Amino acid sequence: MSTHIGAEPGQIAPTVLLPGDPLRARWIARTFLDDAECHSEVRGMLGYTGTWRGQPVSVQGSGMGQPSMSIYVNELLDDYDVQTVVRVGSCGALTERVAIRDLVIASGACTDSSMNRLRFGGLDYAPVADFGLLRAAYDAAAAREDVTAHVGLILSGDTFYNPRPELTAPLVEHGVLAVEMEASALYTLAAAKGRRALAICTVSDHVVTGEETTSQEREETFGAMVEVALEAALG
Ligand code: ADE
Repeated sequence: MSTHIGAEPGQIAPTVLLPGDPLRARWIARTFLDDAECHSEVRGMLGYTGTWRGQPVSVQGSGMGQPSMSIYVNELLDDYDVQTVVRVGSCGALTERVAIRDLVIASGACTDSSMNRLRFGGLDYAPVADFGLLRAAYDAAAAREDVTAHVGLILSGDTFYNPRPELTAPLVEHGVLAVEMEASALYTLAAAKGRRALAICTVSDHVVTGEETTSQEREETFGAMVEVALEAALG
C-alpha cells in the first residue's frame, strides 16, 4: 500500500474517477460499477475498483482542496501507475452565463493557491485539461438531453469561504465560469507525470444569484456527470 491508500499494487485500475467526497466514491461504485470492491478505508477516504462495461475502473475520494487532493493523486500516479484521472465534483457558478445544475468541463484552471507558484518558482503556469478527454466529455454531454454543458476556465480556490470575493471579478471578466477547489493542481500533477486529467463539475450553487441545489437535484446531476465521465474516459 502507499502512505494514504490501502490498496495492493495492481488493485487500482489505470482509470480513476476522483470525487472529493468519499461517500460519493462509495455511491458511484455501488451505482455505476459492476463487482466493485473497496480497496481503501485509510482516514475514511474510500477507494473502490470495479468494472464499467467490462473495463476496469477505480473511484477514489480526494478530500477538499488542492493539498488533500494532491496527496491522493501523487500516490495514484506514482505508486499505482494510474494513467487517467477524471475529477467529478461540484462548483459554484461565477457568472449568469452558467445556471445551477449545469455541467462545467474545465478546459483550464486558474488558481489563487501557492502550490503552482512554489513548483514553478513564481512563474504562472497555465494548467490545462487533456484535450482528448475534454473533447470526449463534451461530446458525451452534448448527446444528452438532461445536461447543459459548458467548456471553459474555472478557478481552483484555496478558500470555500472566500474573504476577498472582489478579487475574483477580474477573473470572471476574463472568462472564468465557476469556482471549485482542486482542478488546477490536478492538471499540473498530470502534466508533470505525462498522464491524462480532466475536471468535470456540476454547478451546486450560484455565487451571483445565491441559488443552491437540493440534495435530490445534486444526486441527479451528479449521476449524469458520472456517466459523462465514464463515457469520456472509457467509452
Ligand atoms: N464547490 C462547490 N461550490 C463551491 C464554491 N462556491 N466555492 C468553492 N468550491 C465550491
